[in-house]
Amino acid sequence: MVARMIKPLVFSLMVVFSLTACYYDKGEELYGKNQCVTTNVTYTNDISVFVNQSCVGCHGVTSPSAGISLHDYATVVESVKNGKFVGSVKQDGTASNMPKGGGKWSNCQVSKLDAWIQGGFKQ
Ligand code: HEC
Repeated sequence: MVARMIKPLVFSLMVVFSLTACYYDKGEELYGKNQCVTTNVTYTNDISVFVNQSCVGCHGVTSPSAGISLHDYATVVESVKNGKFVGSVKQDGTASNMPKGGGKWSNCQVSKLDAWIQGGFKQ
């Protein structure tokens, strides 16, 4: 008699658990994409992609604008450490706004830049 009652109870508990598991999986899938991941930010995977997209056209190897070349790890690190890179990208009024001619890095790109600097310029 007791065993008869336990079986459906266990079964329904399993159903409930599997449903909640699905619910959380789905939540991660839905909201995960909109999250800005600022852990393990590296030059290769993150920063170089942004810089190549929006800066290197003018700050390349040959005759770079303002004499600032941003074409590889060393030049970007140097510019961030010595220059006005962060202010220009954040467009906070401490340097000329960049990228010049319009556009602005997204909040996520800026957060990644901050995380990269705080993380010690991982290559
Ligand atoms: C369309 C060309 C162009 C693009 C794209 C561009 N720059 Fe510039 N950049 C310039 C020119 C021209 C100057 C010098 C004149 C000035 O400061 O406005 C300059 C100056 C700078 C300076 C010095 C600013 C100062 O106040 O002294 C920094 C730092 C800089 N750029 C970084 C960047 C970064 C980082 C990007 C990408 C997010 C970028 N630039 C994209 C043309 C560009």
